[in-house]
Amino acid sequence: MQDALKPPHHIAVIMDGNGRWAQARGLPRGLGHRAGAQAVRRIVEACCEVGVKVLTLYAFSWENRDRPPAEIRELMGLLEEFIRRETPTLLANQVRLRMIGRLEELPADVVDSLRRVMERTAHGERMTLVLALGYGGRQEIVDVARRLAEQVRRGLVQPEQIDEAAFAQQLYAPDLPDPDLLIRTSGEQRLSNFLLWQSSYTELYVTPKLWPDFTKDDLLDAIAEYERRERRFGRVAARG
Ligand code: FPP
Repeated sequence: MQDALKPPHHIAVIMDGNGRWAQARGLPRGLGHRAGAQAVRRIVEACCEVGVKVLTLYAFSWENRDRPPAEIRELMGLLEEFIRRETPTLLANQVRLRMIGRLEELPADVVDSLRRVMERTAHGERMTLVLALGYGGRQEIVDVARRLAEQVRRGLVQPEQIDEAAFAQQLYAPDLPDPDLLIRTSGEQRLSNFLLWQSSYTELYVTPKLWPDFTKDDLLDAIAEYERRERRFGRVAARG
């Protein structure tokens, strides 16, 4: 008999390929992002069902700020609309919304609106949905270094007290565990500045599927592959 799937505690996703999905259909890129938002809905629901506890989505990178202003406006509008529309579902399913990134670089009205949803869902205990917005891994590391430098300047911390644990304490979401599995769609084999500190020991899974085509079955395939890797390296004795 097959072992039941034991889902990773924390899955992170680089949702790539919305533009190519639209282009392949002769549609504007914005419709690719809209189809991407539907995939977000499917995958949030699927992660809840299979028992994933944290899902982090790379929704808007630091570098995405260099895209044409019209596309940025469209993405921000879509994000806000999506979260507002899905709030009752998040509440009903005990999903807590969080955000990581340089939020001060994003339109204030969008961030305010998302913050309100964060407050309303703060008691959700089934799963935490983390949106990485205006997020860059290097920028996060720089922000940590700045905070630590400030603490040293004020005499609160000695340089020799700075170790991995002290550094991790200053990350944007220090209470969240590192991702166990990082999924990237659309075939690109790179991290693109996502969770650089946190993904040191994360299992990477790249699929050629474009994000709008990514389904629950694709998620289950990724989890099954993760589970095979875990079995090989982690649980030899337990299988005996
Ligand atoms: C990459 O596709 C995707 C993004 C830049 C943003 C992801 C946004 C969404 C899935 C829409 C809404 C998000 C939420 C959380 C509701 P791309 O444009 O880089 O695609 P390409 O590489 O094919 O051009």
